[in-house]
Amino acid sequence: MRFQQYLCFANDQWDLGMSESEHFSLEKSTENEKTAFWDEMSLSYDFGIGTDLRRINLAMERLEKLGAFRSDAVALDIGSGTGAYTLTLAERCRTVYALDSSAGMQKVMMEKAEKQGIKNIVPLCADWRAISENELPQTFDIVLSSLNTGICNYDSLVKMNAVSRGFCCYAAPHGKALHSSRPDFQKIVFGRELHAAGGNDIIHAFNIIYSLGYQPELTYAPCEWSRTQAPEEALDAVCRDFGRYGNVDDGVREKLREYIMSHLNEEGLFVQSQKSTVGIMIWDSRNLLD
Ligand SMILES: C[S@@+](CC[C@H](N)C(=O)[O-])C[C@H]1O[C@@H](n2cnc3c(N)ncnc32)[C@H](O)[C@@H]1O
Repeated sequence: MRFQQYLCFANDQWDLGMSESEHFSLEKSTENEKTAFWDEMSLSYDFGIGTDLRRINLAMERLEKLGAFRSDAVALDIGSGTGAYTLTLAERCRTVYALDSSAGMQKVMMEKAEKQGIKNIVPLCADWRAISENELPQTFDIVLSSLNTGICNYDSLVKMNAVSRGFCCYAAPHGKALHSSRPDFQKIVFGRELHAAGGNDIIHAFNIIYSLGYQPELTYAPCEWSRTQAPEEALDAVCRDFGRYGNVDDGVREKLREYIMSHLNEEGLFVQSQKSTVGIMIWDSRNLLD
């Protein structure tokens, strides 16, 4: 291990970031409830953050430059969601294993694959944190994971190396996301804005992989989306989102409804938007410095 002392610091910083980021630490959902949340999200995911493809294009461009896309390459996408990366990898690799704990997300992804005539995706419904390396069918030439809250500490990150025989690509937020209405929603639900300490910022994973002796490259993709919904649909989505903290009773739901109704556009619809940056980190798992 190259920088043993720094590695301990990097681990502690990630744990600290997660516990100080109230977005994560106040969550009360059980693992099953988290999976149910993603199942419900699966139908709307592609109309929010799923609309901005720049982060996917940038990752593919970098992997291409590094020569990762051999015709016999086998890839693993961890937390594959509705297939943002899986479907693109499938055009460039022999086989893509798409692992996600949400059957709903996998259903949406496989329907898209069928429509596009893509036949080389193997869905694996599993929890990345619970699965062991030898439960996977093989090692992989490309191991990718993007915006996956299932990778949130040293063990779940380093497992990517253990199942890789080539490149790893990990994408996570860089800095704070600016959302048009989330701070106002937080004030309604919690009486204040939640403290954001960057618990899932790319810096934590970068520090760990670097400290282990790999040479990760890091690039940044802008990510912007806007979603327009009927007021009731928006209200259901916001209540589902904040339901993870267990605070949405009838009174809070009513206040959220009032907020949404007083912020409709001229067509009577509610618009939410977000601007953020995604950090994309790529390293060669075979290239470990002494
Ligand atoms: C924000 S979505 C990201 C989807 C896709 N990778 C992307 O970049 O658009 C997070 C995905 O990770 C999955 N996920 C969360 N925790 C997981 C875990 N422990 N094991 C496997 N998948 C997980 C969720 O079900 C969801 O599909």
